[in-house]
Amino acid sequence: MSIDVVEPKTISQFEDEQGIYQPAPHIVEQANITAYMRSKGFSTWEELYQWSIEHPHLFWADMANRLEWYEPWEKVLDDSNKPFYKWFVGGKFNIVHNAIDRHLKTARRNKQALIWEGEDGSYRAFSYFGINREVSKFANVLKSMGVQPGDIVSIYMPRIPELVFAMLACAKIGAAHSVIYGGFSVEALRERIADAQSKVLITADGGYMRGKIVELKKIADEAMGHSPSIQTCIVVRRTGHNVEMQAGRDYWWHDLMSLPIATARCETVPVDAEHPLYILYTSGSTGKPKGVVHVHGGYAVYIASTLYFTFDIKEEDRYWCAADPGWVTGHSYIVYGPLIEGATSFMYEGAPNYPYPNRWWSLVEKYGINILYTAPTAIRGLMRFGDAWPNRHDLSSLRLLGSVGEPINPEAWRWFYNVIGKGRCPIMDTWWQTETGGFMITPNPTTPLKPGSATRPFLGIQADVVDEQGHSKGANEDGLLVIKSPWPGMMRTILRDPDRYVNQYWNSDPRGMYTAGDSARKDEDGYFWIIGRIDDVIKVSGYRLGTAEIESALVSHPAVSEAAAIGLPHEVKGTAIHCFVILRAGIEETPALEDELKAHVAREMGPIARPESIKFVSMLPKTRSGKIMRRVLKAQALGQDPGDLSTLEG
Ligand code: WTA
Repeated sequence: MSIDVVEPKTISQFEDEQGIYQPAPHIVEQANITAYMRSKGFSTWEELYQWSIEHPHLFWADMANRLEWYEPWEKVLDDSNKPFYKWFVGGKFNIVHNAIDRHLKTARRNKQALIWEGEDGSYRAFSYFGINREVSKFANVLKSMGVQPGDIVSIYMPRIPELVFAMLACAKIGAAHSVIYGGFSVEALRERIADAQSKVLITADGGYMRGKIVELKKIADEAMGHSPSIQTCIVVRRTGHNVEMQAGRDYWWHDLMSLPIATARCETVPVDAEHPLYILYTSGSTGKPKGVVHVHGGYAVYIASTLYFTFDIKEEDRYWCAADPGWVTGHSYIVYGPLIEGATSFMYEGAPNYPYPNRWWSLVEKYGINILYTAPTAIRGLMRFGDAWPNRHDLSSLRLLGSVGEPINPEAWRWFYNVIGKGRCPIMDTWWQTETGGFMITPNPTTPLKPGSATRPFLGIQADVVDEQGHSKGANEDGLLVIKSPWPGMMRTILRDPDRYVNQYWNSDPRGMYTAGDSARKDEDGYFWIIGRIDDVIKVSGYRLGTAEIESALVSHPAVSEAAAIGLPHEVKGTAIHCFVILRAGIEETPALEDELKAHVAREMGPIARPESIKFVSMLPKTRSGKIMRRVLKAQALGQDPGDLSTLEG
């Protein structure tokens, strides 16, 4: 597939001589960050940033004071047991009190909290009052099912409002949720349920994607068949197609919500600031996906302040983060962040180009979206349909744009800026990770922008590019991206594996910096340019997958003896998965088997993991200790020099 690169015709009118996009004065004047900067007595962002990293306790206390606490914290940061940092120690809090309850005392009670459109055109909207009713009722249902504070409830749902209610209901009663992306399949779901030891699974009969039904309940049934911990499954009716309901285990959401027990009164449980809010599984460099743990207090402070300053949320805004709630972007910036800020969050169920490539632009026009936050892969995917589709729509409501998930190539940046934002809307290229909870390196509306750079660290964040020994690299030199001091939104540990948390993120550097797993460089202006993952994580269309998971899906097929997966550049997806497979003795290498193996991976893990190509080989490059050298495979595929081969098996 080739991309029609749209050459922006008017670019020079927005760019200065150095190729930098200077912010418009009226945007700077009205920005939340400008108001905060002035309130602290500073006249430039630079001074504000310096103060924030020199006095992080003062800055984060300011941010925490934007929220409501049942009982105030005694200490902003406890770093007595590094890297197990604790934030807002002694504080009593609940994120749901801040996302919902406190708004009910104000005029926001009647403001739209969530607007939703299904792929089939259905429409639902909930005010803060309305969302509180749904969440409270469902929280009572969960309690009646025996869900206790500290339990982990697994959620496997399409992009529908009940997914949001389920997450909030868990948090309200002090239970943690583990949302498993609805595009994942049986094995991925089973593994995550098992690690979380969930007693309750919340799912739906199905969801819509490109006009077809995704059989979520069927996949859940298969996974539950091998999940002894599950006692109860709650099923939302979304598609209405026939699904099996196992008596005594499976219940319809709407049946439970009409029981007398499901009253709309439910006290939000005050929990410790460090109480777990959710587990989110993400791929790491080796082995099983890891359960990243986030907590109520510091996480809430972090995502609310990053959203407030970066996307400059204003009372009248309609904000659309087009990610899936099943990934961290959705957790932080569809569900919790916007609700804490009292914003109106828009959510769309389906594919961006269904039934036509103007679907997204028609949604922007129809709902008057002011802020649109998405991923480079979606931008590239829509760009290739040409300008006529967006040009047919009134996109003048847009004020700010955002990008996340992978480096955005300058062509896609400029298309987004010129064709969608009409040269009026700054693009917030936000670099962050599941582990960081929220934006780490990001512009704000007052930042001069360079297409393809995530610009500078957020307030209170000290980022750097270093060598293997932890020494800072010079300007424009490639190195490891590290964070040099803790921040409130950071992950607290890996569920059931604290050693892995220490080893994976903190031990590679003697000074105990947080190692992100990305390579980057910093230019002479201190702008960060993210290059990509240095470990065995592949970002396919912005989705994070581990080579180890793909390989283990392949070797679970009876024809496969050994497998290796690598990521290679792809013009729309950013990176695509390519696999190398050694077949078992006597098995014939056929195109049919290649297709069968691709389908097998998609079935086991989910359609996003479907390999682009499978190559049959007779051997794989390995180290003497037997580790597959994926970098050698990658260099060969790209026709590059494979580098040092001294550890290669002879
Ligand atoms: C990549 C997604 C370049 C990076 C929020 C990171 C980015 C990984 C950007 C985390 C960006 C995310 N520019 N690369 N703006 N944002 N990444 O955990 O490789 O799904 O380490 O979190 O995505 O992916 P995750």
